[in-house]
Amino acid sequence: MTTTKAPSGNDRIVELRWIPVLAAVFVALLAVAITFALLQPAPPAGADRAATFEGLGGDFVLTSHEGEPVSLADFRGKVVLIYFGYSFCPDVCPIHLSLLTAALDQMPARARDQVQPLFISIDPERDTPEALAGYVRHFTPSLIGLTGSSEEIAAVAGTYAVGYSREDDPDMSEYLMAHTSAFFVIDPEGRMVDLLRPDMTPDQLASAIREHL
Ligand code: NI
Repeated sequence: MTTTKAPSGNDRIVELRWIPVLAAVFVALLAVAITFALLQPAPPAGADRAATFEGLGGDFVLTSHEGEPVSLADFRGKVVLIYFGYSFCPDVCPIHLSLLTAALDQMPARARDQVQPLFISIDPERDTPEALAGYVRHFTPSLIGLTGSSEEIAAVAGTYAVGYSREDDPDMSEYLMAHTSAFFVIDPEGRMVDLLRPDMTPDQLASAIREHL
């Protein structure tokens, strides 16, 4: 893991730094969609709330950290939390996955069992299933790491309006990835129903998750 550079702005939903102008514009447009969703007043639970995120999300098939095909549809009946990131991430991803772990840890087992967290890599070049297997075991035991081809990852990220781009630094042997950082909440019917900012306390995140159980 590289630790020589600490990206700033951990609290921002989208890290937009040092990327080519065209990529920045592309990511900014995606960010507008997410920001728009975040700025909506909290709607009532149920169908109305899901309507806020209409057009975002959807099914996918990727490869798990155990090398098995995994589809979002495999988790119908559970609330799925999706976080996009990468295992080489020096700080943002480990902080947010630790937050998620702390939130799930404090939930009663019966509630926790209804939640399926997924970590989708936006760095499939380095995040092989083996690399993800070594990574996810640092966090909540039910966390499943998912990877795929660059094309598969781009398609899934596009579906969720997740922006990401490679950041090369001549002073570093490894590259970093700028990426959207948020928890996407999928209801038991497979619909995206919420987007949770990772700037909460574990208590707050646990409460926000339990609203959907
Ligand atoms: Ni990260």
